[in-house]
Amino acid sequence: VGLALVAQAAGKLYFGSATDNPELNDAPYVALLGDTMEFNQITPGNSMKWGATEPSRGTFTFTKGDAIVKFAQDNGQLLRGHNCVWHRQLPSWVSSGNFDNATLQSIVQTHCSTLVGHYKGQIWDVVNEPFNDDGTWRASIFYNTTGPSFVNVALQAARAADPNAKLYINDYNIEGTCAKSAAMANLVKSLKAQDVPIDGVGIQAHLIVGQVPSTMQENIEQFTALGVEVAITELDIRMTLPVTDALLQQQKKDYQTVIAACKAVSGCVGVTVWDYTDKYSWIPSVYPTQGAALPWDANLTKKPAYDGIVAGF
Ligand code: XIL
Repeated sequence: VGLALVAQAAGKLYFGSATDNPELNDAPYVALLGDTMEFNQITPGNSMKWGATEPSRGTFTFTKGDAIVKFAQDNGQLLRGHNCVWHRQLPSWVSSGNFDNATLQSIVQTHCSTLVGHYKGQIWDVVNEPFNDDGTWRASIFYNTTGPSFVNVALQAARAADPNAKLYINDYNIEGTCAKSAAMANLVKSLKAQDVPIDGVGIQAHLIVGQVPSTMQENIEQFTALGVEVAITELDIRMTLPVTDALLQQQKKDYQTVIAACKAVSGCVGVTVWDYTDKYSWIPSVYPTQGAALPWDANLTKKPAYDGIVAGF
């Protein structure tokens, strides 16, 4: 077995993992990352973000992103570009630029068209995390300056740069039905009504052991009913440390629940874990008492969560 094999047998396009450039020097890690029975899709965890790709205005640096793309291509893996427009990991020339509306729209247009034009033929998280948890727009530099228009500009620029790219909006805390997932559904409706290109909703799924929302399947269905596809884009299920057998067993169930929700909806096309091993998880750096969120432990040994994923498909 392998996770990509079981995902494809269930009719999904892919099972994938995020990765990052420094990790590509870790030979045992790389051997597993490039195993297409486990992963037939890769997402760069950092190297295509704005700060990494346009550190000063009009100067684009693709070296790190290109290395991840080459890895994926060498192994015949799909790639999700991540991301064009996000309020974090911005270069200071954007975050403190004090641009007027027209100028910032043109900056977003240039950034997205250059990025998506360079990495043609991919799936793209074009807009990342536009909403607050209560479903209102996040007061980012983009929203504060352009209103919702930055979303339209980014999506239209991406479509013009690569008509074949799949264009997503991606967010967290939209796993179950809630105010934020309703806001996402309303945005998709509104974009479609305006003829703005939108192909998919990305559900990040940074979840907590024992707290997977029970409405995940109906929530995925509410998105696909709008005529877009869905992907689980950044799955990890963290626990409060230390690891116990009981927590690992609950985590296994939780992974199975998430995968089963995606499996049940044909428009849910794939699942990506936010790296595959606890060795490289982002969780401990952000939530210091938590971790062990991924299906392989820090020694690259499979955890019960791995079997939960297989069982879910
Ligand atoms: C994270 C990376 O994994 C970290 O290495 C980085 O320090 C911060 O960003 N939502 C997203 C991802 O869309 O881009 C974030 O990635 C995790 C949360």
